[in-house]
Amino acid sequence: NEGALWGGRFSGGPADALAALSKSTDFDWRLARYDIAGSRAHARVLRTAGLLTAEELDGMLAALDRLEEDVVSGAYTAAESDEDVHGSLERGLIERAGPELGGKLRAGRSRNDQIATMGRMYLRDHARLVARGVLATIDALIAQAEAHPYAPMPGRTHLQHAQPVLLSHHLLAHAWPLLRDVQRLADFDRRAAVSPYGSGALAGSSLGLDPEAVAAELGFDSAVWNSIDGTAARDVYAEFAWVASMIGVDLSRVSEEVIFWATKEAGFVTLDDAFSTGSSIMPQKKNPDVAELARGKSGRLIGDLAGLLATLKGLPLAYNRDLQEDKEPVFDAADTLELLLPAVSGMIATLTFHTERMAELAPQGFALATDIAEWLVRQGVPFRVAHELSGECVQAAEKRGVELWDLTDEEFASVSEHLTPQVRQVLSTEGSLSSRDAQGGTAPSAVAAQIAALKEAVDEVRPF
Ligand code: ARG
Repeated sequence: NEGALWGGRFSGGPADALAALSKSTDFDWRLARYDIAGSRAHARVLRTAGLLTAEELDGMLAALDRLEEDVVSGAYTAAESDEDVHGSLERGLIERAGPELGGKLRAGRSRNDQIATMGRMYLRDHARLVARGVLATIDALIAQAEAHPYAPMPGRTHLQHAQPVLLSHHLLAHAWPLLRDVQRLADFDRRAAVSPYGSGALAGSSLGLDPEAVAAELGFDSAVWNSIDGTAARDVYAEFAWVASMIGVDLSRVSEEVIFWATKEAGFVTLDDAFSTGSSIMPQKKNPDVAELARGKSGRLIGDLAGLLATLKGLPLAYNRDLQEDKEPVFDAADTLELLLPAVSGMIATLTFHTERMAELAPQGFALATDIAEWLVRQGVPFRVAHELSGECVQAAEKRGVELWDLTDEEFASVSEHLTPQVRQVLSTEGSLSSRDAQGGTAPSAVAAQIAALKEAVDEVRPF
């Protein structure tokens, strides 16, 4: 059983079935360069602790450099007999540094603290990649909002026409949650910036190693205060998976709207050819596959989170082999978003909005009824009464098959003496929109202020 990481107390090697079950190189190989970075840092603290001579450290670092080159070039890969990335890279190191020197690196560390650290390093890097993709999506939404500063559209609740809103206001309502997602990634990163290296198998090291030095070399803010927590906890991974799921859900929400907007019935948008697909049988088809894949992949991201949480539930301290199952869900979550985000941001950036159709529909379906009620309130009518009166106007219009602005002065007057012809001031989309000018409202002036505030918040989190 050459190359195995243990053997002393065993009289035989593992069964083939166990070896096959145990093996994780298929998915943990992507941590190889992080593992080598950890080995360099570990070699340095072994030197500081007097456990390697200066020459040995030089030899070790040179061998690790060669190993990394070979890993990057593909000259060195996991062997069939390697169980995991850590064991394989120890084999590779021994091949390059010799068994005497190569065999010294494992002192004071365990695959348990290695894997916990490598996972955090990987997720911190990928949190930044994902954040960049989310920021590109936010930028695309802002660009579309700025390209359509005055275009109205029907605002809906329960998918029913509710009140007119600006298209820009609606688009930005998808940008804010995505901004919070980027902030969540940055916040996740603060908790992930604590290194478990030096925790050993679970109890820490007796060899006088300096976990803070390793943490600093690997780009962490600090080392863990509890070696059991450091090796056994995966809440930080679960947090990444949760934020990834939330991003998936937020992308799915905007995608669902694009799918609807692109229908013949809505007719609000045309998808760019580069971000839509055709049909193998129906020559006329132009399908919103990007949006549908976003909607579909959000389910997959939620599955990654749910699977990981189910793995973690009920695990006693400290390390348990169940934890080998922690990696595929978070790797899949990062892969999924890194694939999806450029497509979604591209789709949004290239949408053509049919603003005339949206404007025409914006006030329809009695969407100005609230404006009548609020106008009455400004004339001193209690809202409860105003609501009733406006409702009666809706009923009158509905009976005649017309919209509110088609009612005659006489019809308004017969509903209430308060409904003078002046009510027509608010019976237009523009009047309705511009009246909602407080912070957060849909008036063009309020939306302009909103864009400035959003851009400031985006710039604050962008460098993350
Ligand atoms: N490959 C393992 C994992 O991914 C780390 C190795 C720890 N194995 C062990 N038997 N203690 O979690």
